[in-house]
Amino acid sequence: MTAPDAFGSPHDPRAPERDGPLLLAIESSCDETAAAVLDGTRSLRSSVVHSQIDIHAQYGGVVPELASRNHVLAIGDVVRRALDEAGITARDLSGVAVTRGPGLTGSLLVGVEFAKGLAGSLDLPILGVHHLEGHLLAARLGVASGFAEPVFPCVALLVSGGHTSLYAAEAPGVYRELGRTLDDAAGEAFDKISKRLGLGYPGGAVIDGLAELGRPDAIDLPRPMLKKGGYDFSFSGIKTAVTYWIDAHEPLSDETTRDLAASFREAACEVLVAKSVRAARRLGYPQIVISGGVACNRRLRSMMLEGAGRRGISVAAPPPSLCTDNAAMIGAAGYGRLWAAMSSGAGFEGGALDATSSWSLGPRAA
Ligand code: KG4
Ligand code: ZN
Repeated sequence: MTAPDAFGSPHDPRAPERDGPLLLAIESSCDETAAAVLDGTRSLRSSVVHSQIDIHAQYGGVVPELASRNHVLAIGDVVRRALDEAGITARDLSGVAVTRGPGLTGSLLVGVEFAKGLAGSLDLPILGVHHLEGHLLAARLGVASGFAEPVFPCVALLVSGGHTSLYAAEAPGVYRELGRTLDDAAGEAFDKISKRLGLGYPGGAVIDGLAELGRPDAIDLPRPMLKKGGYDFSFSGIKTAVTYWIDAHEPLSDETTRDLAASFREAACEVLVAKSVRAARRLGYPQIVISGGVACNRRLRSMMLEGAGRRGISVAAPPPSLCTDNAAMIGAAGYGRLWAAMSSGAGFEGGALDATSSWSLGPRAA
């Protein structure tokens, strides 16, 4: 077993991959209420995701107060469905893992307090999980076709609407932050451009779909911090360049909109891929893991496979359903830690567990 880390208990490599005790996982950090049941670090029995997208879409982004209220309305039913689909009752559970942070405080609190109530009433151990560790370990539950099985050490590119970070992952639980966005997250840039084009929220998948039909070299856009800034990113510059371009060329034809989508997607993906591959080469790591909502992006996937593959680096990516927010990934990150705490008889967070809206997955690399 590795040494305890900032998460309370380390990952126990002896935790079963499947057919072990049943763990309930809960996620509510942003606008998805989700629950899952696992019987091992790599074995999912059920996964239920209730999305609030329809509610927030009319406001063009997530409204924190509405998010927490709707988590309260949904969470009981979501957990019940996850138990039903796994064919079990709450009494069959051996532990509960819940997203402790980072995320929206009010949203996190709903999941954390629900998990504490359930675990307390059944006298079960409970563990708070880091949302980004969930994204990082999601590939343990399944990889998309054409991608490799996850291995350590690896470089992890975690890209979503709220995060864009690059980590050196030496082993489960041992992470160093190589870089992060200095302004917008990559998904946020996709969403803002979609909104500016009148294509709705969230816009990543819409822009991705349009980009498939456009020319990626049609419009010259900046590649911010491609050659400098270490492993940090900046996406507000590309977003502003796109916005100015729209201002100057409106009204846009359908063809021009497709070209713009393709050119923006190409610029954003080029920076994400270049920095990830550079990090893996310099560290001598054999794999890059991509996860988070933006890792659904078709061009990011193909460009990463090509760029990393040329240098003998493999790429692991979960299928899209495990890239966007879900509770299965929280279970994947929580199972080995809960096992460690159960084996040692210590380390449960119990009543002390609290939502932590800002929380680093690991120290910044020197
Ligand atoms: O991981 P996620 O579900 O939630 C956060 O933690 O943010 O990611 C949602 C983000 C949104 O910004 C959405 O526009 C983006 O992922 N996204 C995509 C694609 N599918 C979802 N971005 C680019 N291309 C896609 N295909
Ligand atoms: Zn996320």
